[in-house]
Amino acid sequence: MNDREFLKLFSGLIGALVALTIVLVILANVVGGKHVKEVPDTKAVAERIKPIGEVNIGQAPAPSGGGLSVIATANAAGEDKGKAVYDTTCAACHAMGVAGAPKFGDKAAWKDRIAKGVATLHDHAIKGFQGKAGFMPPKGGNASLPDADVKAAVDYMVSKAK
Ligand code: HEC
Repeated sequence: MNDREFLKLFSGLIGALVALTIVLVILANVVGGKHVKEVPDTKAVAERIKPIGEVNIGQAPAPSGGGLSVIATANAAGEDKGKAVYDTTCAACHAMGVAGAPKFGDKAAWKDRIAKGVATLHDHAIKGFQGKAGFMPPKGGNASLPDADVKAAVDYMVSKAK
């Protein structure tokens, strides 16, 4: 094989390789292009990896329209407030009955207390109360709570123990 023949063969080979490269690039785009361009759906991913449960403190979900639900919301507002205060301040002792605290929802533990009258319970919750079972700190130890919030929490606890 002389130089001229070799050059012809060699440039032919190079040309074939270039053609093959182009074909492969086009093929790769056709096969894989779809997936490469797809932007990952972050919302779907977040949905898939979200925790099993979420803690919800206070604030019921917004009512879904209609005059009737507005009235229902107005009625629920007091209980929501009470529940929120209870969850953040009072539950520390009253959920498990720590240090002699009457347990939340325990009708027997609350019966005699409710019999004293809600006004007395409001007073004891706001000012504190030393009873036979233990010491109820003023406002559950959260002095920054407005009296109304403490009352709402008492009302909430009482309503669940009747
Ligand atoms: C540090 C623990 C603790 C926290 C926090 C706490 N309590 Fe109490 N609470 C007690 C104990 C103990 C008693 C029982 C006192 C007794 O009768 O001997 C009690 C009793 C009560 C009573 C009944 C009082 C009565 O006259 O029988 C009410 C009402 C009450 N708590 C409301 C609340 C509210 C509302 C909150 C939150 C703002 C709260 N408590 C937070 C410990 C706690």
